[in-house]
Amino acid sequence: MGLPWRIAIDGPAASGKSTLGQRLAAHLGYLYVDTGVMYRAVTWAALRRGVPIADEAALTGLAETLDLDIAPPTVQDGRLYTVRVDGEDVTWDLRRPEVDAAVSQVSAYPGVRRALTRRQRQIGLRGRVVMVGRDIGTVVLPEADLKIYLDARLETRAWRRYQELQARGADVPFEAVLETMRQRDALDQGREVAPLRPAPDAVVLDTTALDIEGVFQKVLDLIAARCRETSHVAG
Ligand code: CDP
Repeated sequence: MGLPWRIAIDGPAASGKSTLGQRLAAHLGYLYVDTGVMYRAVTWAALRRGVPIADEAALTGLAETLDLDIAPPTVQDGRLYTVRVDGEDVTWDLRRPEVDAAVSQVSAYPGVRRALTRRQRQIGLRGRVVMVGRDIGTVVLPEADLKIYLDARLETRAWRRYQELQARGADVPFEAVLETMRQRDALDQGREVAPLRPAPDAVVLDTTALDIEGVFQKVLDLIAARCRETSHVAG
């Protein structure tokens, strides 16, 4: 067999999913899709338009109709892609603390998930894709041929996110980052529809003590081993 055709990476906030996913996609020449961006975009649009976050029907309508475009980077400022909502570049706005604070409530609404999962599956089924999120291996692309679940201690993840924010000049205290992340983890893991958890056939990697390079190498080794295994069986 060749390389895995569809790769799913799931895990909690700041577990290293985006960095790993992006590097893997670049290495394999695959499309990189960060599904969290879609939930963030719906949340951002609701905040911008003054739609109450508690209004499930309105949020669902927004997820179904939002003019959302995710394209290769248009500015070299560290971004991995450019996100536009109604034609407006919102790439960095999606990372604002108010979006962080509201996104898990929005992403728990079944109608929002239905609409965004449909968009994500359409992209994923084309193949040659690395898709990153919370429910890719379990719900969006259960047929993915390589599923990775990244995890790390909460404090380590919060520290990584704090440093990212500092590097971008955002002045948010560490305690606040930690608390938002704790709440988001609890909501993502506890929701009824598509909760955050590893798929039964996912490879779970703890990144607490691994840097980006270490995680990347482990996954490359995993892919190489899978290729050997299947060519052995086939041959
Ligand atoms: O980058 P970070 O891990 O902090 O978050 P993200 O991947 O951008 O996801 C933001 C939020 O969107 C998560 O906390 C989830 O509530 C939601 N999400 C989801 O429910 N399902 C996905 N496939 C991706 C994100």
